[in-house]
Amino acid sequence: MQVYLDNASTTKMSKTAIDAMLPYFGEVYGNPSSLHSMGQRAKEVLEAARESVARCLGAAPGEIYFTSGGSEADNQAILSASVIGARKGKKHIITTAFEHHAVLHTLSKLEKQGFEVTYLSVGKEGNVTAEQVAEAIREDTCLVTTMTANNEIGSVLPIAEIGAVCRERKVLFHTDAVQAVGHLPMNVAVMNVDMLSLSAHKFHGPKGVGVLYAKKGTLLTNLIEGGAQEKGKRAGTENVAGAVGLAAALKEATDNLTENVKKVSALRDKLVKGLSVIPHSVLNGDKVNRLPGNVHFCFEGIEGESLLLLLDEFGVEASSGSACTSGSLDPSHVLLAIGHPHEIAHGSLRLTLSEYTTEEEVDYALKAIPQVVERLRNMSPIWRDKVNGLKPFLI
Ligand SMILES: Cc1ncc(COP(=O)(O)O)c(C=O)c1O
Repeated sequence: MQVYLDNASTTKMSKTAIDAMLPYFGEVYGNPSSLHSMGQRAKEVLEAARESVARCLGAAPGEIYFTSGGSEADNQAILSASVIGARKGKKHIITTAFEHHAVLHTLSKLEKQGFEVTYLSVGKEGNVTAEQVAEAIREDTCLVTTMTANNEIGSVLPIAEIGAVCRERKVLFHTDAVQAVGHLPMNVAVMNVDMLSLSAHKFHGPKGVGVLYAKKGTLLTNLIEGGAQEKGKRAGTENVAGAVGLAAALKEATDNLTENVKKVSALRDKLVKGLSVIPHSVLNGDKVNRLPGNVHFCFEGIEGESLLLLLDEFGVEASSGSACTSGSLDPSHVLLAIGHPHEIAHGSLRLTLSEYTTEEEVDYALKAIPQVVERLRNMSPIWRDKVNGLKPFLI
């Protein structure tokens, strides 16, 4: 049996999204900037996709900019705010310690250019409060950027409250909503955001296409110079099929949101309950405010990479953390941020579900994971020392 439990890395495309895209590879292949009929047809569908995305987010079509994905949207949002800030002599930015690297690496680039960044601590449960943001805002703060939901441990942040603080203090607010869009209700007005990033492949759309929402009046600077596409803010011939696929997947996810959340969170809870009985394990992330599809555990005495490889042999495809940190032997910055020592952070397992996940698959994973954990522990000299009382247990 093959059980795909890595939907936070990427999702299977929905049939609706694939079918919506197909005509724009073959039949309607025009460049939206061309004046002839083929070009104009492509332009019409691109604008229809923009309108559909705007409707799903409670935004206006003019506030939707198509990008190559979540990373580009994050980069553009943060760099735009830094340019506006620098013009006013404001060079302080607030973020959290457990953002995605698309945000963290952009911020460290800005630190090298003289910006000061406050990294809010996320506590043991992995979350931040609006009060923390309020306390950190200074006269020279030009941007607050906090993710809507964490990609590793699934915590859902109080975005509307953080946004309300930023509005009141007149500070720009960006949220990386890449893990939340398609999985949680989204409305940019309710969330009080000025900018929001999303990525199609996280909600059964195509890879390589995303959106930066920028509230009317928010000044954007270009990452890519060239033609006048995307209202002059993102040069390059538009990915028409990608935009259409993104819009179709987002509409499908939005239309079925209530039903999907109910189904997926029930499977998530079954997994959490079943894995919690493994001795010396801990569920990471906010227990209540949590993405419907996220299960994230640390198992003491286990090395995450071995766990993943052995699980793969059983047909269970999972992750130890974000797609970007797996492959590196450094422990995840997210797990260090919630206070785990390196030894525990190394033994992590992220299982992420989607509406395509079945109960049978969850039951299969619940049989396989405890067996694999036990097998790896039995092979480990460190685990033996712990069992024999020569080394202390940490969880
Ligand atoms: C929270 C978060 N932000 C940004 C990204 C980057 O998105 P993309 O792969 O579309 O560049 C990801 C992808 O894993 C993510 O989880």
